[in-house]
Amino acid sequence: MSKILVVGGAGYIGSHVVKALQEAKHEVFILDNFCLGHREAAAVLGCTLDNGKLLEADLLKPDSLDTALQADGGGFDAVIHLAALSQVGESMQQPLMYYENNITGTLNLLKAMHQHGVKTFLFSSTAATYGNPNSSFTNDGKIPESHPTEPINPYGRTKLAIEWLLKDCAKAWGLTATALRYFNAAGNDATAIIGELHRPESHLIPYIMGALYGRHQPDGTLMQFKIFGDDYATPDGTCIRDYIHVSDLARAHVLAVERDIAEAGKQLSVYNVGTGRGFSVLEVVKGMEVALGREIPYEMGDRRAGDPDMLVADPSRIMADFGWKPERTTIDYISKDILKWTERLAAHSWNWPAN
Ligand code: UFG
Repeated sequence: MSKILVVGGAGYIGSHVVKALQEAKHEVFILDNFCLGHREAAAVLGCTLDNGKLLEADLLKPDSLDTALQADGGGFDAVIHLAALSQVGESMQQPLMYYENNITGTLNLLKAMHQHGVKTFLFSSTAATYGNPNSSFTNDGKIPESHPTEPINPYGRTKLAIEWLLKDCAKAWGLTATALRYFNAAGNDATAIIGELHRPESHLIPYIMGALYGRHQPDGTLMQFKIFGDDYATPDGTCIRDYIHVSDLARAHVLAVERDIAEAGKQLSVYNVGTGRGFSVLEVVKGMEVALGREIPYEMGDRRAGDPDMLVADPSRIMADFGWKPERTTIDYISKDILKWTERLAAHSWNWPAN
């Protein structure tokens, strides 16, 4: 059993990582500032201020990190860092907010870890570090980790800059770091006790569900589903993405952190976490229609700035090194899991459902 701090553990992917680590019998602490995370998510996972498993701290306030790393006597075996701003469109409009939050926040976290002797770091990176795939470097259109990293939006650039930071810290002070480059996380835990709740919502699958259930955005506008562009260089003209079930993604974190704790002294490792299968926006819509047994109305809209045509992982490296493979990733699984979660949210007026 290892003592692991999950930064951003009350967020969407973070809460699924916490659950997977607990199931693997690790002692897990959540650090969150609740700017995007949900207190209820931490509570349902048994992490509260009262029992000391929830640490309220802010990556932009170094003092709060210093205190957090001393929680319960300190001595964390690893930090898993998922706290970031992560919306491509927003990052195009507010780049400085992204650079400050994501890069300065991570710098502060690394400084505090160094000071407290924590030497294992698992980082949530992204497929957005690659930019538009270049066919000279892809395998049948799939992106391997060796593909050049030329992000086309500030969000991707912040994540790539952090990978550089990690490489340098690994060399300088023996940090063992792994960056998991997520493709498109989707779905939720099969129990639907945790799930995705963003305000506003911008991600494809939860947006479609919100629109189907008559959800409003925080500014009062009714969610009406639009496909962002049908003139991309793809067979049906809509963007292709690699949707990975969040529980499969969470399992990859457990495998990576366990390896890194056991094999200290490694430098930076980088892994794609995706399925190797891409779906266009229209294919997602059709797949969800079949799974849910209902029509999904949509309008065809303009392109959204910062969206690459196609992002599909070549996941061979993570499969070879960890024997990992996606077990729950199909549009069918994702749709059925998210249906359960959406019904709970809708019944609670789009607030985190009381358990
Ligand atoms: N889309 C629509 N209509 C919508 C919402 C999305 O057509 O209402 C389209 C987008 O244009 C894109 C696809 O659906 O083509 C997926 O969009 P998302 O917003 O769900 O996800 P992104 O691909 O923009 O980004 C996500 C994460 C990033 C991560 C990236 C990696 O938000 O953090 O996947 O592929 F970097």
